[in-house]
Amino acid sequence: MQQDGSTAALTDRFRTSFGELADIGRADDGGYSRLVWTDSDRLARAWFSAQAARLGLDVEVDRNGNLWAWWGAGRENVVATGSHLDSVVNGGPYDGALGVVGAFLAVEHLQKAGLQPIKPVAIVAFIEEEGARFGVPTLGSRLMAGVVDPAAVRRFADPDGVTFEQAMQGAGLDPDGIGPDPDRMSRIDAHLELHIEQGVGLVDLGQPVGAISGVWAHGRWQIELRGAPDHAGAARLADRRDPVLVLSEVIRQARRQADSHGARATIGRIEVSPNTTNVVAAQARAWLDSRGPTESAIEAVVAGLLERVEDVAETNRVSVSITRESWAEATDFDTGLRVRLAGLLEGHDIEPTEIPTAAGHDAAILAGFVPAAMLHLRNPTGVSHSPDEYASDEDCVSGIEVLASALEDLACR
Ligand code: GLV
Ligand code: MN
Ligand code: MN
Repeated sequence: MQQDGSTAALTDRFRTSFGELADIGRADDGGYSRLVWTDSDRLARAWFSAQAARLGLDVEVDRNGNLWAWWGAGRENVVATGSHLDSVVNGGPYDGALGVVGAFLAVEHLQKAGLQPIKPVAIVAFIEEEGARFGVPTLGSRLMAGVVDPAAVRRFADPDGVTFEQAMQGAGLDPDGIGPDPDRMSRIDAHLELHIEQGVGLVDLGQPVGAISGVWAHGRWQIELRGAPDHAGAARLADRRDPVLVLSEVIRQARRQADSHGARATIGRIEVSPNTTNVVAAQARAWLDSRGPTESAIEAVVAGLLERVEDVAETNRVSVSITRESWAEATDFDTGLRVRLAGLLEGHDIEPTEIPTAAGHDAAILAGFVPAAMLHLRNPTGVSHSPDEYASDEDCVSGIEVLASALEDLACR
């Protein structure tokens, strides 16, 4: 495929297409909140259908609500690419959206070059990748892979008590149908996800685009602490059963244990009840997110945290219970695809590099079932899940050109 002369046109198309998504779910301060089955999600899904229509692609909604746009005949030996359109609360513009915009533009680029797919190319947008509404990340790909119980998913509730079932119904889709889709999975020959890097690995390497070797293990837990409500003035300190004191130990230990075990641990969400200034709290809940290069690093974080928290809880006569809400093992991406990506990067005059990622991705769930790989784009701020997330238009276009070459290589030859 010709590279010369097409980059300027692709840059224009990138600005337009990415710009069309830019107003969906954006708050005045620039943060994005596109949560699954909300109005902003509905608008983003409509944007997906419009992009597909523009390229003459059929759109299909699978049993789990994931969106698929098809280029080429047949549904066997599929080359899939895409990412997600949902965001965290107050996130950045690129996480997920870039991989879907990039997939459409890569197909458009190939169409303009007069190429025809020999294998069908599917552009996919998975639902609830962030788990920002219902708590379990990469939910659309987990449902498709059959690694999460659909009955439990239907009962998941958001912070306002709305269940997944109610929210999906509200979006006009049938929650009774969610669950494993082995037939769809078995028809995928290769899956590629283009994503902004959520760190500075590529900045340090001085490269605009790189391949990802694999994804760290990742788990989420809910820790519930129960004490007894009492008067903030009258209750003597020694008589109190204050769960917030124990919560402070949870927060401290998350950091300390992650530090000692070469892992990451975050308490990004807490709830205190009744959350009133002059009441010793009755209950506190914290959500722990931990990631590590190995499963055992995370297990050590959780075990170390619990041991110390239980000590403090006992002293304060507070009960502790912990529930694992999600788990994903460490994943290595497909060696054959990684070798192909290295060759394609070289063909684009980009030094082929590989880095691991500590962020979660649908491609890592698919990698347990089909050959999968990822391309990441340089992020000068290194920041993600924040409005400060950034990639230059030039780097986005370089990533899309590499993705287009990969689709050409995998599907058009
Ligand atoms: C999703 O981006 C995650 O890694 O939490
Ligand atoms: Mn993402
Ligand atoms: Mn994310």
